[in-house]
Amino acid sequence: MSDTDTRNDTAAGTTDRPDPAPHPVASADEVEAAWRDPKLANVLYHDWEAQTYDDKWSISFDDRCIAYARDRFVAAAGAAGWPYARSLEVGCGTGFFSLNLRQAGILDEVHVTDLSPGMVEAAKENARRLGFEVSGRVADAERLPYEDDTFDVVVGHAVIHHIPDVELAFREMLRVLRPGGRFVICGEPTRYGDLVARKLSQATWWAATRATQLAPLRDRWARTREELDESSRAAALEAVVDLHTFDPDTLARTAERAGAVTVRTVTEELTAAWFGWPVRTFEHAVNPERLGWGWASFAYRGWLRLSALDRLVKRVVPDELYYNVSITGVRG
Ligand SMILES: C[S@@+](CC[C@H](N)C(=O)[O-])C[C@H]1O[C@@H](n2cnc3c(N)ncnc32)[C@H](O)[C@@H]1O
Repeated sequence: MSDTDTRNDTAAGTTDRPDPAPHPVASADEVEAAWRDPKLANVLYHDWEAQTYDDKWSISFDDRCIAYARDRFVAAAGAAGWPYARSLEVGCGTGFFSLNLRQAGILDEVHVTDLSPGMVEAAKENARRLGFEVSGRVADAERLPYEDDTFDVVVGHAVIHHIPDVELAFREMLRVLRPGGRFVICGEPTRYGDLVARKLSQATWWAATRATQLAPLRDRWARTREELDESSRAAALEAVVDLHTFDPDTLARTAERAGAVTVRTVTEELTAAWFGWPVRTFEHAVNPERLGWGWASFAYRGWLRLSALDRLVKRVVPDELYYNVSITGVRG
């Protein structure tokens, strides 16, 4: 273990308590209880996914994902004030957002937190591979184990739609921010965008899993029955952990009720999401060995071109139809 792992960072205002260990294999009783407890479901689901999460979501720490993280941050919060000296990420997963923001020069000192111990371990491991110093804590975003006025920026990506009390999470982010500090939460699903993406994904799954059972395709293109069953189980748990979709204006009001000022939301990805979600679903539905570099290049270039188109039509398409909403605000 490096001193990063064991650091009990009183300078960063952490409150002391030992972190629980990752728990990648859940018992039947725990799974049963998780149907009624979204936080337990989040821990079980994300601990289970932690070791395969980067592959599943094509997460990397190279130019592609550095640019993606930087562009989401800039779209929401602009490019002033970099680097933020001390940052906290809530719901860090494997570190996709803050490790790439650190590489982009937006963040300096990085502290990562997640409800899932397996995810915190995975994020620290990714940081270690990149040669960074990060401190990681297992923490519920509704109850952050840090003292008031600790951070210059709090970031998050694809996390608040999992949190039961979003207003309480904003209150916590504001509490641990210094006066004038900023939170930047990106990549949350909008209500309409999510609805369309789910329908397209369901149709793609239905068509791809049936087509690959046809005799001429089965041997080379079909996933095994075990893999398809595992995907179905994951999809069922996803329904428990995905708690919210957002209307951008309502989300802004929630942050203001929590005490944030100069709140702003921005939406992104319209046709890019209509393309990207079926592409991703197709990748999960068929034998991955059949999809090589050519497919990956098609998927990424297609997404880039459609994202550019989506920015062009932004003036005429209502914000709430876009798939992703990001929100930023300041502690007054
Ligand atoms: C969809 S993943 C996103 C992970 C990462 N931010 C990314 O973009 O790759 C959501 C993460 O939020 C975490 N999470 C869910 N509920 C949480 C809570 N109440 N407090 C903190 N983290 C939470 C999950 O464990 C999971 O790692």
